[in-house]
Amino acid sequence: MSDEQFKKVLSHAKEYGFVFPSSEIYDGLSAVYDYGPNGVELKNNIRNYWYKAMTQLHQNIVGLDAAIFMHPTTWKASGHVDAFNDPLIDNKDSKKRYRADVLIEDYVEKIENKVQKEIKKARKRFGDAFDEAQFVATHPRVVKYRAQQKEILQRMAKSLENGDLADVKALIEELGIADPVSGSKNWTDVKQFNLMFGTKLGASADSAMDLYLRPETAQGIFVNFLNVQKTMRMKIPFGIAQTGKAFRNEIVARQFIFRMREFEQMEMQFFVRPGTQKEWFDKWKEERLKWHKSLGFGDDYYRFHDHEKLAHYADAATDIEFKFPFGFKELEGIHSRTDFDLSQHEKHSGKKLQYFDPELNERYTPYVIETSIGLDRMFLAVFSASLQDETLPDGSTRTVMKIPAILAPTKVAVLPLLKKDGLPEIAKQIIDDLKWDFKVQYDEKDAIGRRYRRQDAVGTPYCVTVDHQTKEDNTVTLRERDSMAQIRIPIAELRQHIADKFNLQNWLGKTL
Ligand code: GAP
Repeated sequence: MSDEQFKKVLSHAKEYGFVFPSSEIYDGLSAVYDYGPNGVELKNNIRNYWYKAMTQLHQNIVGLDAAIFMHPTTWKASGHVDAFNDPLIDNKDSKKRYRADVLIEDYVEKIENKVQKEIKKARKRFGDAFDEAQFVATHPRVVKYRAQQKEILQRMAKSLENGDLADVKALIEELGIADPVSGSKNWTDVKQFNLMFGTKLGASADSAMDLYLRPETAQGIFVNFLNVQKTMRMKIPFGIAQTGKAFRNEIVARQFIFRMREFEQMEMQFFVRPGTQKEWFDKWKEERLKWHKSLGFGDDYYRFHDHEKLAHYADAATDIEFKFPFGFKELEGIHSRTDFDLSQHEKHSGKKLQYFDPELNERYTPYVIETSIGLDRMFLAVFSASLQDETLPDGSTRTVMKIPAILAPTKVAVLPLLKKDGLPEIAKQIIDDLKWDFKVQYDEKDAIGRRYRRQDAVGTPYCVTVDHQTKEDNTVTLRERDSMAQIRIPIAELRQHIADKFNLQNWLGKTL
């Protein structure tokens, strides 16, 4: 997908009531967005699809809804106060602020563009005989580019890990990286910047307590580990799943709802016996990929990116990357977090957070496998992969959102062919019948063709049209979004006919 297609995603999201810039009448607030009527339906459906897959389909995973505010020591224990930082650099001439690592990564991306150009040229030259892997491994210019990329990224990773911010600046200068806005190379030193939003709890300035808006939902699960385990009599291995808002003061907030300052996470912590974490990590990797693939976008939209450099608390980590309009990027993280978080909370709270394993007759601090996915990012994935322009056999075109039916904001649109002759009344009766099971919409404005296009554009899987024949034989036309096939069907059979398409088992039963 190109920039052009990404622009289309942005404008379509706004024009069809999916996503609006926050407080737009005041010119918006950077990296904050509101979900419109269609957006909130899609978002709720994605959340439900995840939550049900986790809690309804696994007897050993239960839900939680922890508060956004947490005791401030939580964030000391988790390491966020000391280490949840981005390295920032200012340009002295433009006064613009950047993430130093992003400037360097963008530079590496430019080298990657050169590699891709070489590949494209060679593919054109060699045609079917082209072997990309061999070309990349042997072509001198490409080999040189790839070595450069590796060297730059390795040096940056090492400097950041060692807290050597002077070397990060030196690297920016050595590479001759200029301010993307002004072209100036007049940089300040690199400084660490904590991403947590602070706020205060309490009425008076003296007694107020400094709090943070949570930067991840996971800690609400860790601090409730024993509450949940004891009240629900959970036996290891078991999981706790939660969806909820998280906040990060992202400096480089770009790419629409991909990186926001206020966003929603869907996280699950799976508590296991120490020593079994590798097995469970592999299982959750596989299971989460299956969940994604159940939506039917096709295998080539996904890939794993295993982390080589691990956070100090992790013994394995991978990202599920999705083919967004701007390339493959992280959609979900799966982390083997050892016993780091529970041990840290135990240390800082002075309370034991251990589990007595009746089978082993032993007490231990469980290890944790975490699956963590951004709901907004998943929304963008579904939205961008669904949005398609199609040329039809008669040469006309349509814009259609091929949203997986189970996630579609509206399931059925009911359309009287004309606004008279009793057709609207019949349409409304059908709505009254279907609305108990499906999100339905009534539309009587404009010619029927235009109404179909409108529903295609918001991804409604079915349109039901009421016409004069309906009055005679109680049948309606049922039009399917993707094939545009139309069948005649008795009203009495409508619900049964479409129900399969929205049945959770038909979506997840094949894969989970
Ligand atoms: N508890 C682990 C954790 O929070 P993370 O990789 O920082 O890990 C997990 O975030 C997921 O949350 C990401 O894969 C992404 O989908 C989503 N996410 C993170 N930061 C985000 C942001 N600023 N805007 C939107 N989604 C974000």
